Amino acid sequence: MRVSARKPYNHRRHARRPLGLLRTPVASLTALWRYYRAFYTSSKSALWILATVEYALSYYSYKLIRTHVTHFKMCVLLFLTVEQKKRIAVIAGDGIGREVIPEAVNVIKASGAAVELTDFDWGAERYLGDGVTVPPDGFAMLGRDFDAILVGAFGDPRVPSNIHAKEILLGMRFKMDLYANVRPVRLLDASLCPLKGIEPKDLDFVVIRENTEGVYVDAGGVFKQGTPDEIAVQEDINSRKGVERIIRYAFEYCERHKKQDGSPRKRVLMCDKSNAMSYAGGLWQRVFKEVGREYPQIAAEHMYVDALCTQMVRDPRQFDVIVTNNMFGDIITDLAAGLQGGLGMAASGNIHPGKTSMFEPVHGSAPPIAGKDVANPLGAILTAAMMLGHVGLAREAEKIEGAVIEAVRQKKITQDIGGSLGTREAGEWVARRVSQSGPS
Ligand SMILES: NC(=O)c1ccc[n+]([C@@H]2O[C@H](COP(=O)([O-])OP(=O)(O)OC[C@H]3O[C@@H](n4cnc5c(N)ncnc54)[C@H](O)[C@@H]3O)[C@@H](O)[C@H]2O)c1
Repeated sequence: MRVSARKPYNHRRHARRPLGLLRTPVASLTALWRYYRAFYTSSKSALWILATVEYALSYYSYKLIRTHVTHFKMCVLLFLTVEQKKRIAVIAGDGIGREVIPEAVNVIKASGAAVELTDFDWGAERYLGDGVTVPPDGFAMLGRDFDAILVGAFGDPRVPSNIHAKEILLGMRFKMDLYANVRPVRLLDASLCPLKGIEPKDLDFVVIRENTEGVYVDAGGVFKQGTPDEIAVQEDINSRKGVERIIRYAFEYCERHKKQDGSPRKRVLMCDKSNAMSYAGGLWQRVFKEVGREYPQIAAEHMYVDALCTQMVRDPRQFDVIVTNNMFGDIITDLAAGLQGGLGMAASGNIHPGKTSMFEPVHGSAPPIAGKDVANPLGAILTAAMMLGHVGLAREAEKIEGAVIEAVRQKKITQDIGGSLGTREAGEWVARRVSQSGPS
């Protein structure tokens, strides 16, 4: 009778098959990388345990682990390197951007977030100095070398054409294809809302604005300029691909994100003006119905943009996720910012899933108040938190949001929202509160 026994592991045989030997380390390294990607947002310890288990399983026996102990160390080193700091490009820009972004940066530092921050001087000052808006290869460099971009605002009366703002900001959105402009509308304290009886639980919706098409692509022209017969044409560009991906993004967002109180998001409302703009509106209507059918658990609703503005001030409780085109999104989020306490409170992300995304407060450069230490830094600070959450630093993001809520409750805020602090003082208060909230 033949008795089969497990053969002992033969190191020499493997040594004669260099490819066999190579396979194991490569598998281990691949496994580590895979787990790093999959558990991008999980805690370091969970990641570490999973990576180690996967590493161990990729060997046939414990003996091999011993034989390849050096190898194991290499993987640990790789893991530590990969787990290293997120690279953040910081572009403060113009006007109050140069005041609020340094405060946001200090708060990020106070949170202990594992980030490496690199400043860029793109903006009006640089443009007026050397004529450069975006250096050659600028956008490719941002996409290649950074995990996220934190931006202030662009716009300076010394550059009346606003060319630098267009090239930098719209350039980033269009050329880096950051098609989803995500603008959360949250009330942090009832005292900030100009509407009667609205509590933080009543105002918690998100506007998903299409960010790469519409009337902002600058297609059009003028004819007989400067004459009484002048004609100006501004085209509204809506591609099937662009409309479909932003609507799908909204449904996916609704499915994956909860409200602040932990309850699920359940409704996506598409906002257009299809009664008057039937070609573009018709495309949005058709695509919304088609994509909506793929998400039967989410209610798909519709409102014309003018009616939506009325409803937003009459009863903002009814909104959950709103998806709309570039221009309507721009306009309704300024209105929504008013419900949150003003433009100084509103945060946004310009996102392309899987690519380097850009985060900026909703407000502009506000030239009249620039350099006076009065700008509200909380929108920029909340934007920084949003960015940290996006790159997988959720605990640091939560700490920052908690400190901002506390600042509002304790009135450690700027004048625009009823406080008496300057930009720097308000930013320093939040940074202190964040650093006191302990290690993440
Ligand atoms: N994303 C951007 O870079 C962006 C966005 C909007 C406007 N802009 C540019 O900014 C410049 C000014 O535009 P605008 O006046 O229409 O918009 P704005 O957002 O700069 O200012 C609108 C109003 O809100 C106030 N405000 C804005 N942010 C504030 C803050 N953090 N704290 C306190 N008050 C704040 C301003 O004082 C002003 O009264 C223009 O050049 C415009 O093109 C840039």
